[in-house]
Amino acid sequence: MLEVILKAVLAYLLGNVMGGHLVGKLRGVDLGRVGSGNIGATNALRTQGTRFALLVLAIDVGKGLLGALAIPSLPISFGPPVLDREQLGYVCGAAVTLGHCYPALWGFKGGKGVATLAGVFGALLPLALPWILLAFVLVVMISGYVSLATLAAAAAAGLYVACFDARGAWSAAGGFTAFMAALVVFKHRENIGRLFSGTENRFEKLRVIGR
Ligand code: G3P
Repeated sequence: MLEVILKAVLAYLLGNVMGGHLVGKLRGVDLGRVGSGNIGATNALRTQGTRFALLVLAIDVGKGLLGALAIPSLPISFGPPVLDREQLGYVCGAAVTLGHCYPALWGFKGGKGVATLAGVFGALLPLALPWILLAFVLVVMISGYVSLATLAAAAAAGLYVACFDARGAWSAAGGFTAFMAALVVFKHRENIGRLFSGTENRFEKLRVIGR
């Protein structure tokens, strides 16, 4: 059990390494004070441009990959394992995402976890990723709303695991995906409010279909 706790704590701390804060410090920009106030790549793109946003995205996706792949493989053990490698991957994947969404090192004010989750899914459920990305890209192209596309991507992840994952919804993958989808919806509650009131930020440039 000590191994699981230690690796989950390491993954959580890795989640505290926020792309938006790192790139922001280098460029002298506080993403929390501009645009939507979110620390993620969407707000970086909205307020700082493509290169800044791609750096933020790379760091946040990268830590998701590392958290779910590298940390569970660290040679730390205190006796027989209580979780198998896959289950440990999901625990660390959840921990790195929670570290991004609620970072203790940044006063628990974090991001929405989307890029980090993309890295975690890439590591643990790579066959789901194309479907998740397809849902995201289609909704962005039709609506121009990144938040709506993110919610569609979360639904696609849930549908994929329920329908196509051989172990079905009641597996470690199912539990992880349901928990993470609920977290994404919770973190987007203000976006959802703005979508309903018609005041959500829209990226007209990303909207290719339906203009
Ligand atoms: O990944 C976050 C995105 O879905 C919404 O970001 O800045 O529009 O709140 P933002």
